[in-house]
Amino acid sequence: MPRYHSLGKIPPKRHTVFRSSEGKLYHEELFGTLGFSGMSSLIYHLNPPTVVTEPVKSTPVAPKIAIEKNMKALSFKGFSIKPEKDFLESRKTLFVNSSLHIGLAAPETFSKDYFYKNGDADEMLFIHRGSGTLKTMYGEIPFKYGDYLIIPRGTNYQLDFESTDNRLLFIESFSPIFTPGRYRNNYGQFLEHSPFCERDMRLPQNLKTHNEKGAFKVKIKKQGVLWEYVYGMHPFDVVGWDGFNYPYAFSIFDFEPITGRIHMPPPIHQTFEAAGFVVCSFVPRLYDYHPDSIPAPYHHSNVDSDEILYYVDGDFMSRNNIEKGQLTLHPGGIPHGPHPGAIERSIGKKETQELAVMIDPFAPMSITEDALKLQVDDYYKSWVIE
Ligand SMILES: [Fe+2]
Repeated sequence: MPRYHSLGKIPPKRHTVFRSSEGKLYHEELFGTLGFSGMSSLIYHLNPPTVVTEPVKSTPVAPKIAIEKNMKALSFKGFSIKPEKDFLESRKTLFVNSSLHIGLAAPETFSKDYFYKNGDADEMLFIHRGSGTLKTMYGEIPFKYGDYLIIPRGTNYQLDFESTDNRLLFIESFSPIFTPGRYRNNYGQFLEHSPFCERDMRLPQNLKTHNEKGAFKVKIKKQGVLWEYVYGMHPFDVVGWDGFNYPYAFSIFDFEPITGRIHMPPPIHQTFEAAGFVVCSFVPRLYDYHPDSIPAPYHHSNVDSDEILYYVDGDFMSRNNIEKGQLTLHPGGIPHGPHPGAIERSIGKKETQELAVMIDPFAPMSITEDALKLQVDDYYKSWVIE
């Protein structure tokens, strides 16, 4: 998040003596995700963040690839994923390439006997169902239906769900996730034509300092392996921090749609970007207002990008027979477009209630075994007129 934020106590000058009232030195940590030249935060711990007390265990968790090279339009029923007790167990990776992994989860809880950290990837969690609190060493962020949670790689976190009915779409991005650069000025401030601004971003609050010694399990995902570390001190032992690198939340309902007299192209829906993909939000909006406008999208050849749509709510104007939680994957290299009847049906319509998240990965996605369990038969034939 290109914006300065600070919580708790910090010394007036960085890298200088900073002690508790008992005279104990606090432990400073620089936390960045792009060496020493990206956005970073300086964090002040009660204890060194390095005290590992037990041998490290490892469990392989790399997704199993079923289709490495895909050239077929595919669809998947995401709500067919059965709820599972724990957050990490419930995460099912569906599509992978070298830039990102995409998956779904239906966790009933986040078992409180561990903290989770993704050591490889920034995570985007989109909350389709459920509410609760994201807990990190930076503080807490309450979340609810429609929220995107952006969590920089290396951030220890837990999720406190308020109920057992939770459904999430997740992205693991192997490069930092940003808001689109074209919506920000040279100083990082959102410009007037941006569909959202600083007021819409929800930053960590309510910093709680845990001064606890014991055995604290941290499950760290890296290189397709879940590494289980045990630390001697609570990971949320932070008395204060400042900087630019921290988790934040943005609600899809705070995305202000850009509309026009004739059909506007998909980039107007863009919400996030990273190296190798973009994320777009399709939200309820007024349709185009030229008297002869066609609100449905034209057929298009996304030759250099796969296109993955996750349907959240409302009627999706360009698709027939789509359910909540359903995904479509239209591979780059061939054209795709509205389903039969959708163009005619859209003419004269004034507004849409559609709500969807689109992910455009620039390199082709491989399909996992977990995805095939959710597959809709013969989706690629759904443009045939009977
Ligand atoms: Fe498209």
